[in-house]
Amino acid sequence: MTMEKRILCIGAGYVGGPTMAMIASQCPRCRVTVVDINPERIAAWNSDNLPIYEPGLDELVRATRGRNLFFSTEIERGIRENDIIFVSVNTPTKSFGLGAGMAADLQYWEKTARQILEFSESSKIVIEKSTLPVKTALAMERILNCRENGICFDILSNPEFLAEGTAVHDLEKPDRILIGSRETDSGRKARQTLVDIYANWVPKEKIITSNIWSSELSKLVSNAFLAQRISSINAISALCEKAEADVVEVSRAVGMDSRIGPKFLNASIGFGGSCFKKDILSLVYLCRHYGLDEVADYWESVVKINAYQQERFIRNMLGAMFNTLAGKRICLWGFAFKANTGDTRESPAIFIARRLLEEQAEIVVSDPKALKNARTDLTGIEGRVHYVEDPSRAAEGCHAIALLTEWDLYRNLDFQKIFDSMAKPAFIFDGRNILDHRRCFDIGFNVYPVGKPPLTHF
Ligand code: NAD
Ligand code: UGA
Repeated sequence: MTMEKRILCIGAGYVGGPTMAMIASQCPRCRVTVVDINPERIAAWNSDNLPIYEPGLDELVRATRGRNLFFSTEIERGIRENDIIFVSVNTPTKSFGLGAGMAADLQYWEKTARQILEFSESSKIVIEKSTLPVKTALAMERILNCRENGICFDILSNPEFLAEGTAVHDLEKPDRILIGSRETDSGRKARQTLVDIYANWVPKEKIITSNIWSSELSKLVSNAFLAQRISSINAISALCEKAEADVVEVSRAVGMDSRIGPKFLNASIGFGGSCFKKDILSLVYLCRHYGLDEVADYWESVVKINAYQQERFIRNMLGAMFNTLAGKRICLWGFAFKANTGDTRESPAIFIARRLLEEQAEIVVSDPKALKNARTDLTGIEGRVHYVEDPSRAAEGCHAIALLTEWDLYRNLDFQKIFDSMAKPAFIFDGRNILDHRRCFDIGFNVYPVGKPPLTHF
């Protein structure tokens, strides 16, 4: 079969892998290749044990791999042989030099641009899939258009809005596809090429186009707005705990205003994940760069409240458990940054585990998908840490359970049996408000939800 389009994606991570699998599945006449510098990752994508856990992903990859979806380490060949190149490399927060701890680290991004320049033998469309600071496309254009050999590059911005745990659904039925381009003839033509790819399965009215800087900025702003809602409700949860209000009731009442809406108003131990914090800090850095200190301060407060909420969770535990955790055994239910993923990047569980160990507690970490990552995250930290996958067994002999990830399996356990196996008085700190608090209390637990009055037997 002759292929209509040859597509390459550089970066086989949480975005590159699933996104390309969806394109391959929806566009059988496109040949899609995903390359990465990490050979283990590519080997895993080519195996039955994919490098990431995502509901529905195994089936999607199985249906397309070897047909029109290929994973490879041959970056040079990939660049030579493909006309449309997505770049989906990591863009973490810079950890050194100017802007350390705030700015985006663009070294992987720039290296990719230089590789594209070096190995291209024909004109190409290069698409920013990674999340980037505004005006990155300008830097890309400057790097790519510096040769006069007739090879031209059109840069597009096409940010990804998928959330982990629901990536396959989000890719199949996106709220919107955003494509930013230059308003030149070739920019518009390149944009249409990408619109045509998505139009294979996304309704036309959901594919929106914009100027390239608006597109880059919209991605940072979307994440900032989402994180801001979580910090807003978490800030209110602190007030609820003082005022004997119930944050779930408050968020339901507030969210029923159609102008506000009900989503992303669940109080928690704070947001985690590889992107919210890094993208807000990147936005803050950008604002400071342009001299907009008040705007920067405003957005930075979203991150500050998130750190405050995590520390508050530890302080609540300490306060409830008679101001000492030393020598106590505490079970952590969940280590992933959210349910339905094994990803632990920036998971609040990492901070909470560290703090508990600082207090000289012994911890038992339990998670259905994230134990491997948890072991890596906690390597080198002093203290007594155990890993037990089964949540009921993990709680045996513990003084407290701290529920950190909203996995469904925690909702319907045999709480009587768990209570019987624990040290007394037994505590539950529900960092996600997903348990039946009254039932746990009736069994004998002292129950501390987030943003609600505790249910205690003292
Ligand atoms: P990731 O770390 O899982 O994957 C990035 C991959 O790029 C890695 O496998 C790495 O080895 C590879 N890579 C780095 N430099 C390379 C090079 N020069 N050549 C080839 N491969 C290279 O990251 P991710 O979570 O997929 O995120 C990628 C980008 O997408 C980031 O900018 C992120 O902000 C953005 N994003 C992520 C999500 C998400 O849910 N994870 C959602 C939307 C947007
Ligand atoms: C988020 C965005 O939702 C995606 O649109 C975006 O593409 C992605 O970041 C990205 O750029 O990386 P993700 O981080 O995968 O996706 O997951 P979310 O569902 O947004 O959850 C983020 C964190 O907020 C999790 O720790 C979650 O538990 C927490 N959260 C979410 C709450 O504490 N309360 C809520 O009401 C919702």
